[in-house]
Amino acid sequence: MSETAQLRINGKTYELPVSVGTEGEQAIDITKLRSETGLITLDNGYGNTGSCRSEITFLNGEKGILRHRGYAIEELAGRSSFLELAYLLIYGELPTRDQRDEFIDDVTRHTLIHENLRHVFQGFPLKSHPMAILSSMVCSLSAFYQDEYNALEPEHVDITIRRLIAKIPTIAAFAYKKSVGQPFVYPDNSLTYTSNLLHMLFSVPCEPYEVDSAQARALDQLLILHADHEQNCSTSTVRLVGSSRANLYAAISAAIAALWGPLHGGANQAVLEMLHDIHRGGGNTDQYVEKAKDKDSGYRLMGFGHRVYKNFDPRATIIKKTCDEVLRKLGRTDPLLDIARKLEETVLGDSYFADRQLYPNVDFYSGILYRALGIPTDMFTVMFAIGRLPGWIAQWREMMTAPDTRIGRPRQIYTGPAARAFVPIDER
Ligand code: CMC
Repeated sequence: MSETAQLRINGKTYELPVSVGTEGEQAIDITKLRSETGLITLDNGYGNTGSCRSEITFLNGEKGILRHRGYAIEELAGRSSFLELAYLLIYGELPTRDQRDEFIDDVTRHTLIHENLRHVFQGFPLKSHPMAILSSMVCSLSAFYQDEYNALEPEHVDITIRRLIAKIPTIAAFAYKKSVGQPFVYPDNSLTYTSNLLHMLFSVPCEPYEVDSAQARALDQLLILHADHEQNCSTSTVRLVGSSRANLYAAISAAIAALWGPLHGGANQAVLEMLHDIHRGGGNTDQYVEKAKDKDSGYRLMGFGHRVYKNFDPRATIIKKTCDEVLRKLGRTDPLLDIARKLEETVLGDSYFADRQLYPNVDFYSGILYRALGIPTDMFTVMFAIGRLPGWIAQWREMMTAPDTRIGRPRQIYTGPAARAFVPIDER
């Protein structure tokens, strides 16, 4: 017999079903709570709220486990490719060779963006943050494909998925080129996904540019590590926006906006800015650690802590290794990396951080690696968005096909004034 939980309130006892996941996690199902008891739950920041059942990603923050569709992130990062993982996340199984090749061909054929969309870039100010451009442009895509965005039509969904994955690097690279005043570089479909991205970012018409395959592979791995992370802020945004049946482009555009914040995807940019600050100030990490421990300062060490990981972030472990390898291969020393190492060492040996289970997260190292690849700081969160796109799509698709999906509409406890009479303006 399945477990139930009992709730005693106002002298009555209610039985609540308990839902169990495949990894043994348990949740009290409160779907009927309000209709049966008149009560709602209050959960600031949703730290105890399961918003859906999902077959896509499992993570255990206490044990530092991250798996997509059952496959460990360590294996995927070492043995898969970003587009193969995208297929796995979205369609549920690793593709056969034919399925993989067809998927890659389809994505490759859609890398161009409509010329009219290209002109939209001209309207943005020169120094626009690329996340502002990315979010706007992805939403603008919906204006170009409005005959094919019916979320309940599988053919429309499949073509939209391919268009999004194909065009997001082009849009990202154009956003960067716009910010540095260089001409847009069109995609080269003879290149792999990440080689093409590097080509569009860094080649210029007046000089030859050869993509470094080791760098393209490191970037591919970075995208893999960001591909999905279950119900985080931006993914929950996709589900919430999508639950109203808004089209997929609009839902992804909203997710990009959510990702932009420094407490979420924007942390990778914030980490680099923090390391720069420490470097400019003479490299004294202790001073920043002390400031972060002082509650009155309101200051936080960027790249440390995670809502879910309370032991270590497995993605950070993989990135740290790749980061070391790439820097060694490039023969580059980076004073910011030295500061990062010193900061990590200080934090890991400090009881303030140990007591609160604050460890370096994925963003702590990804910034250093992006920097080594020559990617400018304000493009870091854009790279995160490219990586997270398959996860957002997979979660949206799962939600749209789930029979029990309803429009997302949380409740609240009202704490404002009780009913009162309107006061005419002369009497206020
Ligand atoms: N530096 C100093 N103190 C911290 C930090 C930090 N980075 N993070 C959390 N704390 C303290 C916080 O002050 C609180 O202390 P106390 O219990 O004494 O009041 C305690 O740790 C718990 O913090 P919280 O804010 O309740 O934790 P949260 O789960 O709500 O926040 C977080 C998680 C990631 C937003 C937070 O750790 C943070 O702001 N980190 C810095 C930003 C960052 O690196 N974000 C990237 C997250 S990983 C990428 C992604 O998936 O988005």
